[in-house]
Amino acid sequence: MENETLPSERAGNLESYEKACKDFTWASGEEEFEWSSGGPYNIAHEAIDKHASSWRKNKVALYWESASGKMRKFTFGEMRRETNRFANTLVGLGAKRGDRVFVYLDRIPEAYITAFGTMKMGGIFAPIFSALGPDGVRDRMLDAGARFLVTTPQLFERVQPVMESLTELSTVILVSAGTEQAPDKCVWFRELMRASSPDFETERMAPHEPYVIHYTSGTTGKPKGVLHGHKAMVQQLVTSKFVLDLKEGDTYWCTSDPGWVTGTSYGMVGPWLLGSSLLSYEGRFDPRTWYSLLERYEVTVWYTAPTALRMLMKAGDDLVGEFSFPSLRHVCSVGEPLNPEVIRWAMRTMGKRVHDTWWQTETGAMLICNYPCSTIKPGSMGRPIPGIQAGIVDEEGQDLPPGREGFLAVRPGWPSMMVGIWRNAPRYREYFKIPGWYVSGDMAFRDEEGYFWFLGRADDVIKSSGERIGPFEVESALLEHPAVAEAGVIGKPDEIRGEIVKAFVSLRPGYVPSDWLKAEVSQFVKQKLAAYAYPKEIDFVDSLPKTRSGKILRRVLKARELGQEVGDLSTLEK
Ligand code: WTA
Repeated sequence: MENETLPSERAGNLESYEKACKDFTWASGEEEFEWSSGGPYNIAHEAIDKHASSWRKNKVALYWESASGKMRKFTFGEMRRETNRFANTLVGLGAKRGDRVFVYLDRIPEAYITAFGTMKMGGIFAPIFSALGPDGVRDRMLDAGARFLVTTPQLFERVQPVMESLTELSTVILVSAGTEQAPDKCVWFRELMRASSPDFETERMAPHEPYVIHYTSGTTGKPKGVLHGHKAMVQQLVTSKFVLDLKEGDTYWCTSDPGWVTGTSYGMVGPWLLGSSLLSYEGRFDPRTWYSLLERYEVTVWYTAPTALRMLMKAGDDLVGEFSFPSLRHVCSVGEPLNPEVIRWAMRTMGKRVHDTWWQTETGAMLICNYPCSTIKPGSMGRPIPGIQAGIVDEEGQDLPPGREGFLAVRPGWPSMMVGIWRNAPRYREYFKIPGWYVSGDMAFRDEEGYFWFLGRADDVIKSSGERIGPFEVESALLEHPAVAEAGVIGKPDEIRGEIVKAFVSLRPGYVPSDWLKAEVSQFVKQKLAAYAYPKEIDFVDSLPKTRSGKILRRVLKARELGQEVGDLSTLEK
């Protein structure tokens, strides 16, 4: 249904998209921050302390439920005390402004406390997804020159084998109730927190000084550390208001993990800038549990991802019918293409439109979105937020007319644009290789009404369940297996997960292809690299297509897999 549209729902915080595009300026968003009237320039101050010293002091900042159903809640006042304690803990351990504080935890309250405590003392919060294995953790911590690591004794077991290589690491802070002798370089979180003062004077930061480093993948090389400055808060607040449409009484649930950018920009920062109550659930995806959380916590605004919605859809209409969500007002999605079928399903079963949003780790906040006050065209990512200019450009930077396919690009300078790539200036410059534009790496087109439509990646980045996976990292892990001679990795289209990781592997002499070996190699990557990035499918091949210089041609592997024309093979070895 090409011309299918869903009419606007209502005027939200954004009353008219067209009017805002004309009138909105970033400066107008700045008045909401205390730094504009002399307060400290620091995200943690605006997200927590500001509310803790207002009538929101006793308002719930965080509702948390453990995987086993245990509940906890924290008010803004309590969050201020806890984050102050952690800032003092870090300073007591010798932490300095700019230090990278890695947080390798499941979704537990300490992940929030350590994130904002780090920001308060001027440190750089470095979250890593708890599904990462020892090699994935080591690569990221080594690259960033990690100074501190916050983790649990269980997760620390994965780090222990690589501790020796982490030469810049000062201290590991273990979150558990332990009081016995801590392992070498380790201290107990609870003990230090108890001994630390609940008062702390938050550091005044410069707008471009980083508050977070997110490791993310491209086509080549290991993941890069994308840095965001405290000034990102300007856009995080404005988009939380205009796009998430958050209002005072809301209970908001962002299902992303803090290890990913959605989990920080909109799972922590944006909604707290507005003083919203967050829900956080420690456990894994499960349709019944998710519906029950929406119902029990009377969630009003929900930010989730297409894979989760497709899995809910697959769980059937009977299951969703067992629940009711009268409180649910607004649903948004991010991370991968949102298929029209999912939008129709949500309309039918929940009576809600799903509002797609497009952005990236590097952009720090939403850029192209759908709004309650606007028509949705299912299949389109929506229109640029007020205050930015997005374009479809060719290699010279020519802005192409509607209907033409090209590189999705944005005029640089939006407030939450990354401030750098950690210790990798050349990689940062590559994003700006088309003069006058930030180049996203996505291909898209725009229609006559200014709606953007996603076509695919211009590179080999894989999106599986909305999680960004670099083929090089998976190939490197595969090559460490004794049986593997060469490996090429692609994203294979998958109805539920968007894509799955598929590997093509040639074996060393003496190894014989077998299903057992496939499972063994796949398991090897799962344990070493990450539980979300291992190849779900492996094909053994005699040789891999390569350029004359020996580079593996993933696009040929992909074309063959999809039964498509392989294209120009003149650069192939044979
Ligand atoms: C893809 C996630 C289609 C895209 C916040 C982008 C999307 C990459 C959408 C960034 C969407 C994100 N429709 N594709 N609405 N949103 N993507 O860094 O390829 O994990 O470049 O950031 O996800 O992924 P990242």
